[in-house]
Amino acid sequence: MFSQNCQLTTNPPRTGVDILRDPLVNKGVSFSRMQRQNFKLTGLMPALVDTATPSEISYQERLAMERLHHLSSDLDKYDYLLRLYDTDRTHFFRMMNKNVEELTPLVYTPTVGAACQNYALVHAHGRGLFIPITESSNIKSILENWPVRDIRAIVVTDGERILGLGDLGAYGMGIPVGKLALCTALAGIPPEYCLPIVLDVGTNNKQLLDDPLYFGLRQKRVTGDAYDNFVAEFMRSCAAVYGKHVLIQFEDFGNHNAFRFMKKYAALYSTFNDDIQGTASVILSGFLTACRKTGRKLKEENIVCFGAGESMLGFAHLLVETLKSRSSLTEEEAKRRIFMVDSRGLIVENRSTGGISLEKAPFARPTGTPEMTDLAEIIKYANCTALVGASAVPNSFTPEVMKQLAKQCEMPLIFALSNPTHKAECTAQAAYKATNGQCLFASGSPFQPVNLEPGEAPRHSSTYHKPGQANNAYIFPGLLLAISSLRIQPVTDEDFISAAETLSENVSDEELCLGCLYPPLNKIRCVSYAIARQVGHVAFREGRCWLKRSEGGLKKEEIDDIIKSMSSYPDPIPASQLRDL
Ligand code: NAI
Repeated sequence: MFSQNCQLTTNPPRTGVDILRDPLVNKGVSFSRMQRQNFKLTGLMPALVDTATPSEISYQERLAMERLHHLSSDLDKYDYLLRLYDTDRTHFFRMMNKNVEELTPLVYTPTVGAACQNYALVHAHGRGLFIPITESSNIKSILENWPVRDIRAIVVTDGERILGLGDLGAYGMGIPVGKLALCTALAGIPPEYCLPIVLDVGTNNKQLLDDPLYFGLRQKRVTGDAYDNFVAEFMRSCAAVYGKHVLIQFEDFGNHNAFRFMKKYAALYSTFNDDIQGTASVILSGFLTACRKTGRKLKEENIVCFGAGESMLGFAHLLVETLKSRSSLTEEEAKRRIFMVDSRGLIVENRSTGGISLEKAPFARPTGTPEMTDLAEIIKYANCTALVGASAVPNSFTPEVMKQLAKQCEMPLIFALSNPTHKAECTAQAAYKATNGQCLFASGSPFQPVNLEPGEAPRHSSTYHKPGQANNAYIFPGLLLAISSLRIQPVTDEDFISAAETLSENVSDEELCLGCLYPPLNKIRCVSYAIARQVGHVAFREGRCWLKRSEGGLKKEEIDDIIKSMSSYPDPIPASQLRDL
């Protein structure tokens, strides 16, 4: 079987190396003898014919895993895996599916951080489009250079805030490439529908500007009207070339631009910002799951958000919307549960140190609240039950801070979300140790399970703790699957709340018993499908699906099948697994 969407038989027929050089159709020694004869492939590969079925481990998957295990650095492993992606997508994604826990951190966070910092060393042409601002007014024709016209999902970055690593300019390409690879690996979206893009507007990273290997525009970032007009032209061009309902996911833009574009384009295009909205959804899901273990209600959490940037402000907004729609709190009551902290301390209306942007202002504590900067003090003042960090300040959750939290709350939540691993606010080990194993911990990059020493946990309680990975990868693939298959527009808060609820429902009691707030990654294809289905039905009810509008409209009973058929790469989800949903 070839990919359902990519044909070998073209006119004129493709043969020989032409086939082997196309990653969407190449399948190496899995070509049968007949296919080798018909397509002039005989002799271009060794005699072995691999007859493994998709669910079996093929020769090529076995070989690739063997070679991977011979490599010692994660960056080399990333490089090797992406080269496999360039050569034979079917086997790359089958291998991802069968080894998802091991390979996801190599293809995405944390390794993608090192890859972006050294991107010239691991780059290969043809994985995505670079659109330099020097080509503004020519964007449409650059988009037309991409070999596929039926594009359903674009992930775009301008490289200004890559993970917690700052401005990496055109080296940010690793992010859209990695995110879209995850959409295929974790949600089964055929790779040919996906397009990674970097808008290269220069970089303010002096190290890169001085680096002879840097391949982006060697100039300071363009800002102001020229930048805004460039992004506006990009949005218009995508709609013109790929259709007005093509999904455009914004990724790793600087904070000041991310919020502006999200607001400006939400009603006009099918678009969302994963750092703001996807992160919000994955954190919300962890909180909903935690309620099952702590016995507290969502509306009872007192939440200290450390780092008032894209992630935390997105989460605060979604939490308020959830408390309003699901717990009948007023906006004011909901906001009272939130204590937002930035680099100048607790955000208080009219605080003497200033720095309250338009986005932060709605979450400022009322005038008269003490202007505190010490985190342990803020935790005490807030009677905090949940501490969430997305500040990119490593080790800012000190043992003292977490001990204070455990002193006032029996089972506190600690989320250290900053990526990559070395930017995390604390490690899993540090969190469990400081709270005597009482906390429910989640992080952005993965941490290994922790076994506390017997004296470090209360008697009769478990010393083994499994941290959850609060990574957006649990949310955006399923969301992308729904939006791109049903052509949903606009994308709304309700989509992110529904996605969070569905993700939470998919955490088993066994996982939760170990302290893990997210399902294992090896269940993710099913979870992504469940998220897509839920989001799809909500969007349908609200009249936001544009698929088949010109043919009289989509029917409710078609939704599951449309999503299922979009989620079938490289192989459909086995029916036995779908039955459990
Ligand atoms: P951002 O740049 O928008 O926000 C960072 C915020 O941290 C800023 O508001 C800044 O004022 C604040 N900050 C800096 N120093 C501080 C200090 N000493 N004390 C308190 N606050 C301080 O960045 P964004 O998008 O919110 O991301 C932050 C981190 O979260 C990054 O490392 C990113 O990789 C990570 N992240 C993790 C996600 C996940 O795994 N689910 C998703 C999105 C982001």
